[in-house]
Amino acid sequence: MDKDRRAHTRQGAASPWAPSTVLVTGGAGFLGSHACVDLLDHGYEVIVVDDYINSRPQVFARVERIAGRFVGAVYELDIRDRRALSAVFARHSVDAVMHFASLKSVNASLETPVEHYDTNVGGTTSLLRTMHEHGVHRLVFSSSCSLYGDAGPGPLDESTPTRPRNPYAFSKWVCERILADICRHRPEYTVLSLRYFNPAGAHPSGLLGEDPRGVPDNLMPHLAQVAVGRRERLEVFGADYPTPDGTGVRDYIHVMDAVEAHRVALDHLVDAPGMRVFNLGLGQGRSVLDVVSVFSEACGRQVPYEIGPRRPGDVAVRVADASAVTRAWGWRPTRDLVDMCRDAWRFQELNPYGYADSDRRPKPKH
Ligand code: NAD
Ligand code: WQD
Repeated sequence: MDKDRRAHTRQGAASPWAPSTVLVTGGAGFLGSHACVDLLDHGYEVIVVDDYINSRPQVFARVERIAGRFVGAVYELDIRDRRALSAVFARHSVDAVMHFASLKSVNASLETPVEHYDTNVGGTTSLLRTMHEHGVHRLVFSSSCSLYGDAGPGPLDESTPTRPRNPYAFSKWVCERILADICRHRPEYTVLSLRYFNPAGAHPSGLLGEDPRGVPDNLMPHLAQVAVGRRERLEVFGADYPTPDGTGVRDYIHVMDAVEAHRVALDHLVDAPGMRVFNLGLGQGRSVLDVVSVFSEACGRQVPYEIGPRRPGDVAVRVADASAVTRAWGWRPTRDLVDMCRDAWRFQELNPYGYADSDRRPKPKH
């Protein structure tokens, strides 16, 4: 689709702003790779930078297979390397940036906080300096529900006071503060910061999904690796929370909905000056045991689990009030937990060892 046609067909198109070339940082990762497919499907030129610290370059063959066309260019670089990043901006005429690249493990951030601040905050300021040098001032930023910390059962809207509780969450909080401050002082910047709750699921083709390096921290990829036989059982982190079944309650959102919101955000970057913040979630709380049960339905067998102690730092319930984005853009997520589990399972079943080694098929142990 060409730029002019897209300007007429996009949601809520009210202005002539129609970004054509989007730089995706962290484009090989879970969210980033799905965003690449979605952007290519909608006629954008996509440029990716990623250092593969938590991803693999093999993902791009999948992206291209699904989208039926190539990512414009992929650069292996660390976004803190300003010289390398600047060369990318010099080579391509970038209209807007989707900034996914960061370290995202809460646990790891407790072990190596300096590394997390350096990558997440230093990476963001490096990106901002480089964007500025090249006259690019439109950014969609990956923020996180972790900013709300233990704000309570919610639903949590964007005015909920932020209470980051770990270095990862603080790093996102600092980035938001920096972005808001830059926007306050420099009118040429517009930023949309999207605070995702719990992205899960996979592309419905089964070609693209979540393939983290090492033991997954997050529930859904861990559950999927148990279901496919890579791990023996899921440990449920605590069943003594004040929730209906005692396990933690979260607001899961399909990764395709999450990346669709980023693409819609591109069109809304110029609706208003400055920085705006939106939650992305379904606004529905689901417990760990709910997710195990829906996933077990999806894969056709009970996924083994055992109840363990609480994970330090976890909260009982975190659910979004995600109505602001619908009011602002008329956009809402359309996929539910059944879709997320079905798609995550399809990816895991077809790619038991992810992108790295997809022909090693383990035998399910149950
Ligand atoms: P991911 O780890 O799969 O993707 C991040 C990508 O960034 C990876 O490909 C990684 O290799 C790359 N990267 C990391 N540091 C880099 C650097 N210095 N230079 C270049 N590339 C680098 O994570 P994800 O789940 O896709 O998350 C994407 C973004 O969304 C992150 O910013 C994360 O904090 C945020 N987020 C994720 C979740 C979630 O649960 N997945 C929830 C809320 C927010
Ligand atoms: C979900 C539920 C766990 C794994 C994290 C980050 C947050 C955001 C989203 C980035 C909880 C339970 C998990 C397992 C389990 N990420 N669980 N066994 O903790 O809600 O949020 O990801 O921004 O910042 O903190 O997500 O998927 O880790 O956990 O019982 O092996 O599953 O206790 O109740 P969480 P999660």
